[in-house]
Amino acid sequence: MTALHPLARLSLAKLESPLRHVLKPVSDGAAELVFLDGNENAYGGQYCRYPEADPIAVRELFARYLASGLTHEHVWITAGSSEAIDLVLRSFCEPRNDSVCICSPSFPLYQHWACANDLELVDVPLEGERGERLALERIVAAHAKLTFLTSPHNPYGSLLDPRQVIELLERTAGIVAIDEAYIEVTAAASFARLVERFANLIVLRSFSKAWGMAGLRLGAMVAAPGAIEAVRRLAAPYLVSTPALEMLRATLADPSAIEASWQRLRHERERLARRLVELRPVKRVHPSQTHFLRVELDDMPRRVRELLQAGIVIKPLAGALVRVTVGRSEENDRLVEVLARLG
Ligand SMILES: Cc1ncc(COP(=O)(O)O)c(C=O)c1O
Repeated sequence: MTALHPLARLSLAKLESPLRHVLKPVSDGAAELVFLDGNENAYGGQYCRYPEADPIAVRELFARYLASGLTHEHVWITAGSSEAIDLVLRSFCEPRNDSVCICSPSFPLYQHWACANDLELVDVPLEGERGERLALERIVAAHAKLTFLTSPHNPYGSLLDPRQVIELLERTAGIVAIDEAYIEVTAAASFARLVERFANLIVLRSFSKAWGMAGLRLGAMVAAPGAIEAVRRLAAPYLVSTPALEMLRATLADPSAIEASWQRLRHERERLARRLVELRPVKRVHPSQTHFLRVELDDMPRRVRELLQAGIVIKPLAGALVRVTVGRSEENDRLVEVLARLG
């Protein structure tokens, strides 16, 4: 059995994975197995059976996709990266005892679930105009059990400097979870390749964004086998559905089509940014590494309202800022046309 990560929640040392109750025997080829163990309705449709309890083949495919040397033991598949965030918090942090460090502005679920788990929250805000710099000394001094970082950042669209991240991994005794929900469209290398070197590194990935599978709810956690074992002991079986696993398996077996779409998104991002800056309501388009843009509008609340009236939904941020997802070219054109018409 894989040794449990030393920083895992103490109760997990006494527990085995709930998967042990539900893992299915595999046919030896002599005869097909008849499954009368799961209380499903065999007269139901295509999805009458529970999903594969431990999708090792999909875990292996994603591990190989990420970096050579990684195996299924480094990967856990989740129902969206939101579930991965929740699992990491609950696998490593002791309620009322541990603290969690966030670097604001950050994805609201880190803070939400840290508070729901009764964990002390330490905020060490990002530095730099685009939140591209960590206040490293302050994060190290916080001595948090778990620190959440986001690279590329949402909504800044900026990347963290790998040298700062590595220095943090070397200097902190706690877990550092790097949320890479938006990495694919960027030219940056994933930190996943470092999980063999740093036992305190956990990389969170989402299949909702560039992978185009938001409706299927798929994410992943990438870490040293001991950390994956902690999550395995905690996670509920069957949270990732059969159609989701099927789609993920097919996409990872041949990612060429979705990868080609990333190239398109990069092209569209640059085209949209160039067109937006020419428009009167647009004060500034901030550079972005990924497939959304931070845009400053002259009268933000009014523009958001006007766009909505014209059937276009964008995300209002703070002050004059909005976040605009790079859409299909015709959708981007429509945004530009409507904004150009607004006086
Ligand atoms: C930075 C970041 N992390 C995680 C998520 C959660 O994504 P999902 O649960 O769809 O994988 C989001 C979603 O917006 C996000 O922006």
